[in-house]
Amino acid sequence: MNFDFYLPVEIIFGVGSLEKLGEVGRRFGYRALVVTGRKSAKEQGYINKALDSLKRWGVEEVFVFDQIEPNPTDKVVNHASELVVKERIDYIVGLGGGSSLDSAKAISIVSSNEGYAWDYVNYPEGPRLIPFFNRPVICIPTTAGTGSEVNRYSVLSNPIRKEKMVLSHSLNYPKVALIDPSLTISMDKRLTATTGVDALMHSLESLTNKFSNTFAEDLAIRSIKLIKTWLPIALQEPNNLRARSCMSYAAMLAGIAIDRKRVALIHGMEHPISAHYPHVAHAEGLSALALAVTEFNIVGNPEKYSLFAELMGYPPKPHMAVKALEDFLERIDMRLSLRQLGVEREKLEKLTEDVCMLSRGLFSINPVEPTVEQVYKLYEKAYEGY
Ligand SMILES: [Fe+2]
Repeated sequence: MNFDFYLPVEIIFGVGSLEKLGEVGRRFGYRALVVTGRKSAKEQGYINKALDSLKRWGVEEVFVFDQIEPNPTDKVVNHASELVVKERIDYIVGLGGGSSLDSAKAISIVSSNEGYAWDYVNYPEGPRLIPFFNRPVICIPTTAGTGSEVNRYSVLSNPIRKEKMVLSHSLNYPKVALIDPSLTISMDKRLTATTGVDALMHSLESLTNKFSNTFAEDLAIRSIKLIKTWLPIALQEPNNLRARSCMSYAAMLAGIAIDRKRVALIHGMEHPISAHYPHVAHAEGLSALALAVTEFNIVGNPEKYSLFAELMGYPPKPHMAVKALEDFLERIDMRLSLRQLGVEREKLEKLTEDVCMLSRGLFSINPVEPTVEQVYKLYEKAYEGY
């Protein structure tokens, strides 16, 4: 048994915790920037609630940057960072789905150091620049999946280079995660399912990859159990606060698990898909890849795949992991193929090349280290729909 654990994020979890934003923010200064998406948080009244709380606790000035879109770009992070510098912002609040949280964290890094967002992403050779400073960030998720509120990752897209890369640094942790499960009630069925699959893939990949970390594995195990039980209920009963709380909790646990143990090939192969096809949601790509990659991976860690099958309610046999995943994706209407998602067959070669160029750092920790040809074959399988 061995593990290390480090998580410099204060977690405040509970229904109604959005109310505490002002009280928490006051510790970090008087000028705040709220980073959020174009529509949902505004329409649901979450922005107003956040602003009310900040004002109640004496914030001097609050700016709202509401231009974050799914698969957020380096350009939007650069743009918001300029605003942070110009307005002498003390702290940043990320309010929304993974895109808003990832952007808020990256804006903190870019606005506090030299250069631009793309200077800080992790190419296999390392980032071009190393950050030395940050600004405090408070993350408030309105979905249950990404786990960004508790880890050091920001996933950014560069539409000119057609690359999707991860910014990962110990200065990229938020200071506080304010997790209010009642905010996730407004998610529609599709968003509930996609974000839930993202959390499940975080748990599955961190449980089965080659990193050894007992503590993180326990978090992943608990997360899988919760998702298996509560995601179908959250889909059937969107207002069920217990189901929503369990999903927020599961996503948080999975977010911590990947912070310690990273992800693996399913995520590595997904990033080029949403880089080339920005209309594809992260978890749609994951769903399309999950079965083919899991079948490929089993031989590298049969013990953990047996455990996964068991946690999903199937006999504890390695090959049952694929069946368990297949049935679950079917049940939540997330059984997808790359073809259905609009990926073109002739692009599979380019996607393979990108994985091997940009995500090869994940190959050695994947349960089975793939070759270029194997990655291509897995894309082919996922294209046809396993
Ligand atoms: Fe993910």
